[in-house]
Amino acid sequence: MTQVLEVSEMSVSFPRRSGLLGKSQPLRVVENVSFEVGKGEVVALVGESGSGKSTIARAVLRLLPIDNGRITLADVDITTLSQRALRPHRRNAQLVFQDPYSSLDPSMTAIEIVEEPLRGFAMSREERLRSAQELLASVGLAGVEGRYPYEFSGGQRQRIAIARALAPRPALIICDEPVSALDLSTQNQIISLLDSLRQSLGVSYLFISHDLSVVRRIADRVLVMYAGEIVEEGPTERVFRDPVHPYTLALLSAVPAVVGDRSKHAKRIVLEGDLPVPGAPPPGCRFHTRCPFAMDVCRSEVPAWTEFDHGVSGRCHLHTSGSTLGFSGLTQFAEDAMASTDRDRGQTSI
Ligand SMILES: Nc1ncnc2c1ncn2[C@@H]1O[C@H](COP(=O)(O)OP(=O)(O)OP(=O)(O)O)[C@@H](O)[C@H]1O
Ligand SMILES: [Mg+2]
Repeated sequence: MTQVLEVSEMSVSFPRRSGLLGKSQPLRVVENVSFEVGKGEVVALVGESGSGKSTIARAVLRLLPIDNGRITLADVDITTLSQRALRPHRRNAQLVFQDPYSSLDPSMTAIEIVEEPLRGFAMSREERLRSAQELLASVGLAGVEGRYPYEFSGGQRQRIAIARALAPRPALIICDEPVSALDLSTQNQIISLLDSLRQSLGVSYLFISHDLSVVRRIADRVLVMYAGEIVEEGPTERVFRDPVHPYTLALLSAVPAVVGDRSKHAKRIVLEGDLPVPGAPPPGCRFHTRCPFAMDVCRSEVPAWTEFDHGVSGRCHLHTSGSTLGFSGLTQFAEDAMASTDRDRGQTSI
């Protein structure tokens, strides 16, 4: 097995009530996404609030119905399995949430929280408790088994949540903003813990985060989402150095500390306007309404998914529709466009 998760052309909708009669119409918030997570690999999912990251997480765990597509978890096609048939495969993918305060049952002790997911396994109670104790020790929490969640700090609670997620020996852990609620030094400790667990256990992560500096530290590959679509994908370092999508460039330009003082990211691209209304994306490229580089073709034609020479893929007309720009020209194009916009508007950023 090389891939622990394969998602192919998956779309997800929520029911929406509209009209006088309250008729339900689907609101498609994830459109045709495809990606894989390899064994021992960390794949980050980044994008603005509302772009569909958590929806993808819940859909691949079959916690939400999907409209179309295919989900393969640890070599098993789980797309259409009944909830009953799914049960033995569920253990292969576990979730760790953002909020370590609300995700743990306050009435259970640390060891009970970690032992609980093992109850369906063919293990005696003693074996389960021993395993839970080892798991707590592996996340740096030895000797505190009998304490309740309120007795722990935020970082310690997140360690408990990670130990619980590891209990059924999953192939994949989906971390949905696992460190955003923590202070900086605790964030660093949790990231180091996740990284060392990856190395010692070979577990894979789908790592959802707003924070590109965290993503750069932990992720092998990155998926960039915009308005329900994946618009760029590639090895983290390459995407950070030479993004192919202007949206990625804008995300990177907002955090110069992450990309260093390289001049091409030094100028900030400030995106104007909001994400498109969910379920009603603009025609053509979804990003054209906010793209500083939009051309006519972007308003009418959906850009094709294209793989570039440096191993980064994405969908953007700048590289494919009559433009001779090429991926490495994007940042130069950005610089030139910004320089001319600065002249036109007398501004220092766009
Ligand atoms: N249960 C629901 N019913 C209807 N719409 C929903 C539901 N859950 C999410 N949505 C909508 O789906 C879209 C994607 O939401 P999602 O939570 O996946 O975004 P996200 O990228 O995880 O954002 P954030 O970074 O804020 O966590 C949003 O427009 C959201 O309002
Ligand atoms: Mg979310």
